[in-house]
Amino acid sequence: MSNTQASKPAPSKGGGLAGMVVADSGISFVDGAEGILEYCGYDIRDLAAKSHFEEVAFLLWNGHLPTTQELESMKRQSRACRFLPPEVIAALRVLPRNAEPMAVMRTSVSMLAHYDPESEENTPIAHQHKACRLLGQISGVLAAFERIRRGEEPVKPRMDLDHAANFLWMLTGDDPDPLSAKALDQYLLLLAEHELNASTFSARVTASTESDLHSAITSAVGTLKGPLHGAAVQEAMVQFLEICTVANVEPWFRQVRAEGRRVMGMGHRVYKVRDPRAAPLMANLERMVEATGERQWFDIARTLETIAMREPYFRERNLSANVDFYSAPLLYSLGIPVDAFTCMFAMSRIVGWTAHVYEQQANNRLIRPVANFIGEHQVPWTPIEERG
Ligand code: ACO
Repeated sequence: MSNTQASKPAPSKGGGLAGMVVADSGISFVDGAEGILEYCGYDIRDLAAKSHFEEVAFLLWNGHLPTTQELESMKRQSRACRFLPPEVIAALRVLPRNAEPMAVMRTSVSMLAHYDPESEENTPIAHQHKACRLLGQISGVLAAFERIRRGEEPVKPRMDLDHAANFLWMLTGDDPDPLSAKALDQYLLLLAEHELNASTFSARVTASTESDLHSAITSAVGTLKGPLHGAAVQEAMVQFLEICTVANVEPWFRQVRAEGRRVMGMGHRVYKVRDPRAAPLMANLERMVEATGERQWFDIARTLETIAMREPYFRERNLSANVDFYSAPLLYSLGIPVDAFTCMFAMSRIVGWTAHVYEQQANNRLIRPVANFIGEHQVPWTPIEERG
């Protein structure tokens, strides 16, 4: 064995960095075997039942729940940041109307940096300001692009509404009904943070080079866009639409199994039991369904989960409903276009991403892993006319 081969690093266990610890973090804790998720020590189920999105954003950014005064101050600051620079709205008007909403978001986050007075400053206070601005602006980008592509004018944000209600207002131009606003608020709270998922990791890698916050968030948006991560929620809804009726769930499932396709919204890299966010999302959807009487998507999702969980293939591989399974019919019930579902995820996860970038910068070391090289060594160079 040559020296080069002898110094090879140990092969990674199955690839994908599965199970590898790559950072110390105090932001969230995930126990995949027990199905526990905590934000800064608080159980997600408690937060979902008792808290709201803006309070949880404060928690994730500061490590403690706010006092009344702190919450009011944070709300004032973040609500004042809801306006988009006119240049960004102008850019949204010239983008192709059939552009992927997540691609629009990626472009917009990058563009927003040019109009942020502190974009190149990495101080803690500049970071706090930029995180606040991005929280408001990302929801504004999504609402404005959605209206522009429908041929409507963007609607200006309102300062009297909380984050979820303001988004529904900007999307529709109508006063949001309290049930929808509450359902969206809880959705945003439940997706705000999830340890070192792929997009958060990607944000931390970019931050570790001492690049700026907008660059880190642009990396995260690009990573969230993939169907094995954020876009799974869209694919989950496409599958529910394909199923269409409760009677078709069983035949659809048998066909998917026969073709070896995946059931979207099921399975998770970390959770080996049902995702702890699935139950509150399901209950949230059920409340909407009871109020509107439109049961179709809830009943299809419930039936599909029940059938899948009876199947030995799913039980043996610990494949259960993940966060996307009930998020999909919930967002659909809220009238969000299916191709914008992943943007809703980004609108929430911006809180976790910015918290992680801050944590990375506060105790930074360049993230630079090594590869297990499987190619050839010392290959002799040949002149071009002798190749092939
Ligand atoms: N349906 C059917 N089979 C599945 C599913 C699924 N949803 N998920 C995994 N499997 C099977 C795989 O085929 C594989 O089977 P094998 O051992 O016979 O080869 C086994 O379960 C393990 O799958 P991996 O892809 O190796 O597991 P990994 O941990 O890498 O993947 C992932 C996790 C990507 C989430 C996967 O479960 C999946 O593709 N699920 C559907 C997409 C989805 O819902 N993604 C959202 C995840 S949550 C989030 O990102 C917000």
